[in-house]
Amino acid sequence: MPSIMQRLNLRPIVLAPMAGGPGTPELAAAVSHAGGLGSLGAAYLTPAQILEAGAAVRRLTRGPFAVNLFAPQPSVQPTELEVEQATAELAPFHSDLGLPPPALTTQADIDFGAQLDAVLELRPAVLSFTFGRLTARQMEALRERGILVIGTATGLEEARQLEADGVDATVVQGGAAGGHRGGWLEDELADTLALTRAAAGSVRTPLIAAGGLMTAGDVRAVLEAGASLAQCGTAFLRATEAGTSAPYRAALAAAKAGDTVLTRAFSGRTARGLRNAVTEGIGQPLPYPFQNALTRPMRAAGAAAGRADVLSLWAGEGVAQGQEGSAAQILDGLWP
Ligand SMILES: Cc1cc2nc3c(=O)[nH]c(=O)nc-3n(C[C@H](O)[C@H](O)[C@H](O)COP(=O)(O)O)c2cc1C
Repeated sequence: MPSIMQRLNLRPIVLAPMAGGPGTPELAAAVSHAGGLGSLGAAYLTPAQILEAGAAVRRLTRGPFAVNLFAPQPSVQPTELEVEQATAELAPFHSDLGLPPPALTTQADIDFGAQLDAVLELRPAVLSFTFGRLTARQMEALRERGILVIGTATGLEEARQLEADGVDATVVQGGAAGGHRGGWLEDELADTLALTRAAAGSVRTPLIAAGGLMTAGDVRAVLEAGASLAQCGTAFLRATEAGTSAPYRAALAAAKAGDTVLTRAFSGRTARGLRNAVTEGIGQPLPYPFQNALTRPMRAAGAAAGRADVLSLWAGEGVAQGQEGSAAQILDGLWP
């Protein structure tokens, strides 16, 4: 294939999209400018913000970049009892931060159709998505505008379904990956290298390996196992151009191997991040996206107060190998 690499890339590194702060236009532009594929994590952005962020990338580089969205997924409306339990669990965190008691007030859903329209208008080189599948019409609309499409799989059956949908490449996300799990079927939290090898044997779609890739050796290994590209998130979290907050950076710098956990506490969807008071204290979260809306005030107040103990500190299992530096320096480390 490597049409994606040939068409877009000089170096086989994709900056993982990182919605919610770390993934700035500056970071995406710096990676694209240095010959990788930068990604904008746009899942929490409004359509206007997506257009603005895309324009900001284009002011900084002529290189190709990807925009990433969360594919729509069936959401289960929580019961009153579940809301009561979830708010009760969150209440001590709110009183500690001097916030009024938690309440599920904001509209939780994102308008995916409007986000996708913004992407069609922006026309980035690539639209990548996670959490599910796109419809045939959505795939067709992207194709008509010459936008390459990348889906995310955590296992072989998901990779097969994405191939049947006609994606141009598939991210195979191993269990070590930082951030949200991208699948929609049962997640086996596979070893990244083993999943890459198995997927290379069962689909023909070009693969982008992700999860715990922190060194040039890690990248070489997944390429040898059959991936066309390597997608790295945690490795770029401490980049100068990243929007990672100061308390988040400090927690990453202090993290040791084994400090990450899988948690639903912040968003209601399973994600990997550093263990803290919230991952330890919340056991009955609402389903996604309701828990995400419910915990937003706590996370905002925590960020303002510099409190890493109440922030979602997404990070992969390789976190202890992360380094500070410019995005270009970090890219040089991954692909010398
Ligand atoms: C802070 C953070 C935010 C993330 N946000 C997204 C996102 O918005 N969309 C997405 O597809 N993946 C997201 N991911 C997952 C990455 O795409 C990728 O699977 C992961 O970073 C790879 O593992 P690594 O962090 O060990 O490199 C995120 C990861 C991190 C660390």
